[in-house]
Amino acid sequence: MTFAQQKPLNIVAVSGGLNHPSKTESLVQAIIDELAQATPINVHFIKFSEIGSLLGGAIYRNQLPQRVQDDLAAVEAADALIVGTPVYRASFTGLFKHFFDFVEQTALVDVPVLLAASGGSDRHALVLEHQLRPLFSFFQAQTLPIGVYATDRDFNKDYRVESEQLQDRITLAIARALPVLEWAPAKGQRAEAVKTKTQDANQNLGINKQIEQAEVLPSAAVPNLDAAESRLHQNKTQSIKTQVA
Ligand SMILES: Cc1cc2nc3c(=O)[nH]c(=O)nc-3n(C[C@H](O)[C@H](O)[C@H](O)COP(=O)(O)O)c2cc1C
Repeated sequence: MTFAQQKPLNIVAVSGGLNHPSKTESLVQAIIDELAQATPINVHFIKFSEIGSLLGGAIYRNQLPQRVQDDLAAVEAADALIVGTPVYRASFTGLFKHFFDFVEQTALVDVPVLLAASGGSDRHALVLEHQLRPLFSFFQAQTLPIGVYATDRDFNKDYRVESEQLQDRITLAIARALPVLEWAPAKGQRAEAVKTKTQDANQNLGINKQIEQAEVLPSAAVPNLDAAESRLHQNKTQSIKTQVA
């Protein structure tokens, strides 16, 4: 069976752009369109131009409107993510971070994530590497090798991607993503596999409570963590013994 014949991948796209229209939203849409040409996908597109104002007042996840809770559940069950944010003060926006603060902390282990950002200045292109990549490394996600950064100059007056250079970068990012998506562990079946786990973890719990609860850690995706740690401690004990001898 070739990649193209497989079940569609469940892609969740997140645009942190608060405005409407939004360059970030157009950028993320252009990335979705490129991926859709290469392989069958189902897309759930979360737009902060729609949900941004619903996010700010919530401290715990169960205080969020149901719509945003459903978006979070979609992120946690995705086969792969495409995430984009405008650059605000040399980083992702506060609300973009606030949204991902609610994501269960083991839900994105090994999930491929394509990183994108739009900014006013070329000089902030490394926001992808210095801000977005570390955030998704925290989640132990598989950040894809090529991220896409756009500036105001890459869009026409209708906020559509205009520049050839940006389109080429998007094409390259998807070309480099495809082998990872092809071999991603879930291949279209992740949603079913994580549904129960995510539902259990999310039931009436805010993220702070989840972190406090031992059952959320360690991740099921790292089954040998305990074994690895005990080997590490054993080696340490041995080397102390050797020093003493
Ligand atoms: C509060 C604020 C802070 C910003 N800070 C930066 C910045 O530090 N670096 C940068 O390159 N652009 C910055 N910009 C410009 C936006 O990142 C840029 O216009 C972006 O494309 C807007 O995306 P949107 O159309 O999706 O809202 C800032 C814009 C705002 C409103």
